[in-house]
Amino acid sequence: MITNHETGTRIDEVAAGVYRISTRLDVIPGGFTFNSYLVADGEPLLFHTGYRKLFPVTVEAIGKVMPVENLRWIGGSHFESDEFGALNDLLTAAPAATPFGAEIGVLTSINDYALRPARGLTDGEEFSLGNRRMKWLYTPHVPHGWDCGILFDLSTKTLLCGDLFTQPGANMPPVTESEVLTASEGMRGMMDYYAHATRTSVILERLANLDPSMLACQHGSAYRGDCSALIRDLATVTESGNAKLSRQPRAVVA
Ligand SMILES: [Fe+2]
Ligand SMILES: [Fe+2]
Repeated sequence: MITNHETGTRIDEVAAGVYRISTRLDVIPGGFTFNSYLVADGEPLLFHTGYRKLFPVTVEAIGKVMPVENLRWIGGSHFESDEFGALNDLLTAAPAATPFGAEIGVLTSINDYALRPARGLTDGEEFSLGNRRMKWLYTPHVPHGWDCGILFDLSTKTLLCGDLFTQPGANMPPVTESEVLTASEGMRGMMDYYAHATRTSVILERLANLDPSMLACQHGSAYRGDCSALIRDLATVTESGNAKLSRQPRAVVA
């Protein structure tokens, strides 16, 4: 459903009670989508606030599902403007909401930035939203940020996977069943947004073992299909990219 005809912002239920709010912006040639996910439950949760400038259209979209003041949890994968920019506007609009992020993200950024004290989640921590449980997985540097983590909805097996499988483009369907790795590798070729970390494959294998049924990407379409296989394919290509990099001759500093 389009909720703002000027910006093209839309909201779609991509899994039971999981809503993708998407706005496209012309930040790269061909456009790019910024998604927040609203998880509707007894204690509704918003994963990614969107940019501060997107606050009015994000709130407008949330309002199609529930009053924004009902939000109880507002957080994101790692501290950047597309994940946390509108945090304080949302905390003002939803006075009973608590900000959340990785323990290290709360320590380094969120507790300084946010209007109210934040909840820092530890690796493997689970919490209830009412009828469903969410599990936080700490994924440092995957794809970037030492505060990076992702959230797994255990009831719908939806992996709110942040910047993993980022796909460029403006007109992305809310859900696709076509693989999204080729598009996200195209994006990675254009902009190297992955940290060249040593434990990427180990972390990706852990995510694959969750056996998600949906990858709720922050940029692009949500993917429904064999998510574990796609995550393992991603591990293979990042591993081979890192191997190529390590074979590159290093610059000699005189
Ligand atoms: Fe990011
Ligand atoms: Fe992002």
